[in-house]
Amino acid sequence: MDRQPTDAETDNRQWLFVIMTTISSNSGNHVNKQEIEDILSLIQKEHNFDFSRYKRASITRSINRRLKHHHLRSGQQYFFLIRQDPKETARLISDITVEYSFFFRDKNALKDLRHLAMEPLLKQKANDKDGLRAWCAGCAGGEEAYTLSICFFEASKGLPDKYRPVIFATDVDENSLRKAQMACYQDKSLSELSPHQIKRYFHRRGHNYYVEDFIKKHVCIGKHNILTDPPISRLDLISCRNVLIYLQKEAQEKTLELIHYGIKPGGFLFLGRTENLIDKMKNKFEVVSQESRIFRKMA
Ligand SMILES: C[S@@+](CC[C@H](N)C(=O)[O-])C[C@H]1O[C@@H](n2cnc3c(N)ncnc32)[C@H](O)[C@@H]1O
Repeated sequence: MDRQPTDAETDNRQWLFVIMTTISSNSGNHVNKQEIEDILSLIQKEHNFDFSRYKRASITRSINRRLKHHHLRSGQQYFFLIRQDPKETARLISDITVEYSFFFRDKNALKDLRHLAMEPLLKQKANDKDGLRAWCAGCAGGEEAYTLSICFFEASKGLPDKYRPVIFATDVDENSLRKAQMACYQDKSLSELSPHQIKRYFHRRGHNYYVEDFIKKHVCIGKHNILTDPPISRLDLISCRNVLIYLQKEAQEKTLELIHYGIKPGGFLFLGRTENLIDKMKNKFEVVSQESRIFRKMA
């Protein structure tokens, strides 16, 4: 008597179909709108990650890159692949969230941040019993958070260690957070540092460079989704760079509102070079440097 195929058998047949159609034709590599929505629903259902507020154009590019990588022709084939392979889903999530970063990204803006925000904050705190608090939201592999720790160290010359801030470094991507915890980098991430800075702030083992403890100990790493988790509060500085650009306009607005709530009056916000305040926020922050994207919360 005929029996119904089990779920596993159905999956295997679907997968065989994917392989056969891939072999029979190897051009295309495009995902359509419906397939994107199916893939995002699957990620939300199985990995509890909601990409509905990210820009569709960059999601499309990410999925098409993964299709190409696997020589697949349609989003449907890719859907079957991620349904069976959680590692591939993790790779897609990392691709969509874009973990790209490096030390001292945007050197000139950091120079301004040091003079216009860090030095005044350190001076002010020298007479204040509360410690400084900074937050690097969307820290990727830690490069930006350790850069901030180095900048605060350089700006605090002469002041005791206790005046340097605790820097909360958060990201939604677990692979990135693991890298940030290890604080181990290759030389391509350090290309913006001087030889003196590399020698001072890293120790080398083989081809790897490890952040020195006196820089690392000020950085506190944790998982945080800027779209869904409550913001860290009572902050003197929030650096949220190259994260908003991947979000749709309403999500950018909501994120900036949460960020505004987290900063103390008089505290600073540091955005990425191509990011900006939305109109609604412009009367809540004063512009410290438009070119370097440094803003100050009105008292
Ligand atoms: C292009 S990297 C920017 C890294 C660093 N801020 C810089 O400017 O070099 C974007 C980072 O934002 C993180 N990200 C994306 N969506 C996020 C969210 N909803 N909550 C927290 N982090 C997020 C990504 O995982 C990624 O590490």
